[in-house]
Amino acid sequence: MPPRVILIGPMGSGKTTIGQLVAERLDIPFRDTDQVIEENSGRTVSDIFLEDGEEAFRVLEKGVLRDELLSDGTVLALGGGAPISIDAQSALRAIASPVIYLDISLATVAPRIGFNRDRPLLLHNPRGQWQTLMEARRPIYESIADTVIDVNTKTEIDIVDEILEVIK
Ligand code: S3P
Repeated sequence: MPPRVILIGPMGSGKTTIGQLVAERLDIPFRDTDQVIEENSGRTVSDIFLEDGEEAFRVLEKGVLRDELLSDGTVLALGGGAPISIDAQSALRAIASPVIYLDISLATVAPRIGFNRDRPLLLHNPRGQWQTLMEARRPIYESIADTVIDVNTKTEIDIVDEILEVIK
């Protein structure tokens, strides 16, 4: 059996925060691909990027995603790049779990990115980098998602309620 719900979206869209709240409300485990990678490797995502490069990180991410898609009854948040490979796209389209895309604009995300988090892809020119990634990835997020939630003007509680309504 697969996860209860899967959250996708760009860096800063709130997948981890919202996912934790949804898991609390449902009283089921929360999993986050980045956290699992960090636990398994004993290193931060940033260190893995820095020491081994992005490609090595993507290999770890792919393995974690494969395992987590088999893990039953969790709220699963994916790192922003985790759904992008062709294999990940196919797996996420095939899975029975609802896939929810947290959509956010650059204006809303701007104050959240570029500092206070471990985001090696946004080290230089965070807004520009975020936007470039988002332009490439938005069509993929949209094509995988069963539901899109525009999180721009919503409170965390509203977003959590909306997710619970979608998956009930
Ligand atoms: C990435 C997103 C990050 C993390 C890594 C790469 C990406 O996760 O996996 O820094 O490619 O968008 P969050 O979306 O949880 O910040």
